[in-house]
Amino acid sequence: MTKAMLIIQDKGGVGKTLAARGLAEVVPAAPLIEVDSSQRMLELGKRVKFFQMRADREAIERTGGAAARAEFDPVIDAIASATLPTIVDVGANTGASLLTVIADLGEDFSAAGIEFGVLVVTTAEPGALACVPKLLAIAEHFAAARFVIENRVAGELDPRMLAKIAADTTLACLRNQVLDEQAAAILQAGGLASIQKLDAKALNAKFGIAQGSRIRRDLARVRLDVMQAVRPAAEWLVA
Ligand SMILES: Nc1ncnc2c1ncn2[C@@H]1O[C@H](COP(=O)(O)OP(=O)(O)OP(=O)(O)O)[C@@H](O)[C@H]1O
Ligand SMILES: [Mg+2]
Repeated sequence: MTKAMLIIQDKGGVGKTLAARGLAEVVPAAPLIEVDSSQRMLELGKRVKFFQMRADREAIERTGGAAARAEFDPVIDAIASATLPTIVDVGANTGASLLTVIADLGEDFSAAGIEFGVLVVTTAEPGALACVPKLLAIAEHFAAARFVIENRVAGELDPRMLAKIAADTTLACLRNQVLDEQAAAILQAGGLASIQKLDAKALNAKFGIAQGSRIRRDLARVRLDVMQAVRPAAEWLVA
């Protein structure tokens, strides 16, 4: 069987792509599939196959029916032809509908030798939280393993509530990352993959030793924290 990890959450800006980048760091051999209105993981070059979804996905879902579903055909075909453990970053407003399509194709995917894991990222925002049980319920029909990351970027969740929402999943947590402004800009531009390649000398020359080393420390910590948060999912993916 070839494994595919779907990273999903219909709410935007919760850290799905950051989690995908973390998985890409932990599993350097894994190709990525990016499904979004615009391509983000440019730093990973040819490792990423990008599939564009229209940004007004919600309106499409309400009105589109079969046509909306057919939009996923190239994504489905790409996943079905995977030969290596694959990371799938699913953009906002797309997760529930893509999961439903995949659930309907369960037997065909099994026949094609594809096994799915699902990684739901959530923050404490009500919109993101409300989405978690819905996504996990759809995934229950076909996913061999389900993971949840609590991203504390918007505050911490009540642990009991989280345990209830994420019951029967493997739960991990990502703390809020407080970053030097320049470090945030480097992360924005180059993702996690750029961090190991940072030139300490050049940074110190540009920003001074104090800020230069802070930028490197901040970024090294972000990279490690994200890799830690995705580790259970990564271990399943390569097992
Ligand atoms: N724990 C965190 N601490 C600080 N910043 C974070 C954290 N998690 C995510 N971010 C930042 O928040 C922004 C949004 O994250 P990201 O792009 O991964 O979200 P997304 O869910 O993929 O968004 P979209 O729905 O638009 O695809 C990024 O700039 C990311 O670096
Ligand atoms: Mg994203």
